[in-house]
Amino acid sequence: MKHRMLSGIKPTGQLHLGSYIGALRQFVQSQEEYEMVAFIANLHCITVPQEPAELQKNLRDCVALYLACGLDPKKSIIFLQTDVMEHAQLGYIMCCHTYLGELNRMTQFKDKQAKGEANLSGGLYTYPTLMAADILLYEPDYVPVGEDQKQHVELCRDVAIRMNNRYGEIFHVPEPMIPEVGARIMSLTDPTHKMSKSDGLNRGCIYLLDDLKDARKKIMSAKTDSLGIVKYDPENQPGIANLIQIMSSLQDDRPFEDIEKEFEGKGYGDFKRAVADVVCGKLEEIQKRYYEIIDSDLIETTLKDGADRARAIASVTLDRVQRAIGMEIID
Ligand code: TYM
Repeated sequence: MKHRMLSGIKPTGQLHLGSYIGALRQFVQSQEEYEMVAFIANLHCITVPQEPAELQKNLRDCVALYLACGLDPKKSIIFLQTDVMEHAQLGYIMCCHTYLGELNRMTQFKDKQAKGEANLSGGLYTYPTLMAADILLYEPDYVPVGEDQKQHVELCRDVAIRMNNRYGEIFHVPEPMIPEVGARIMSLTDPTHKMSKSDGLNRGCIYLLDDLKDARKKIMSAKTDSLGIVKYDPENQPGIANLIQIMSSLQDDRPFEDIEKEFEGKGYGDFKRAVADVVCGKLEEIQKRYYEIIDSDLIETTLKDGADRARAIASVTLDRVQRAIGMEIID
């Protein structure tokens, strides 16, 4: 039997190169070898305020981009989180089994709090417990994510193990799977921070649907250093190291030394032009498919079929958990 893999992306805003390299690329590669479950985490979206019309556009774009990047609905289970009610219900159960101390240690929430953002929601705070439910419902063996989500997967494991000890083996405990290259793609304007949707004026973030000229400009003006050597040295040359990672991961994990050798004795201008060619080549390929898909009914049929297949798995897990806890009376 194939091992199962599960992951999701939260489409607050548009998907970017970081989420592609750190996550989506793994989903696509994995669907050959594993049974891939890839969902769109729309419940997670509303942990921060959303404009309804914009959210709906982002959801549709996200499904189209999953498909455009190569996820195949015949091989993978692709669905919207809200189409499978079991997520919210197991999420609540997980929340009741997670300690405040554990949630207080989550760096993503702490970072947001430290920025002094006003009116953070309760949902944002308990978000990792919903994420634990997302995972455990499908009994995956692996959860492919970027570096920033590792702590959340570890929390999921801790709570699952604790519940298994208390109620019997109700959960299969998965492992996070972090890619060797590209687990943390950095901002182009500030390579000491990760590339993210909330990146200031967005000059540091390349969106998968960016105009190609814009994407090229962003790379050409990426922050580098004054050393003038194309060398993978994240500590002293974080900008160049980031561009090397981007290039390597978009060229089938091309070895860093190979890239260093190609640009020996050449300037950063030449190197950036080559990175821009590779990135724009990839974006062009994705966008071409995106425009074929976005207005087709492939989105609806994919989500309908995906939700049916997902529900069939999730309902069995939820039932088992509720029974073990002693919450159910009727069959
Ligand atoms: P999200 O939507 O913030 O990010 C989606 C995936 O992309 C990865 N990622 C990156 N990888 C490398 N470099 C970056 N700059 C970068 N930015 C984002 C993330 O690590 C993630 O893998 N909580 C999750 C969504 C989620 C989920 C789940 C994931 C909800 N339930 C269950 C796995 C399993 C999130 O907000 O990811």
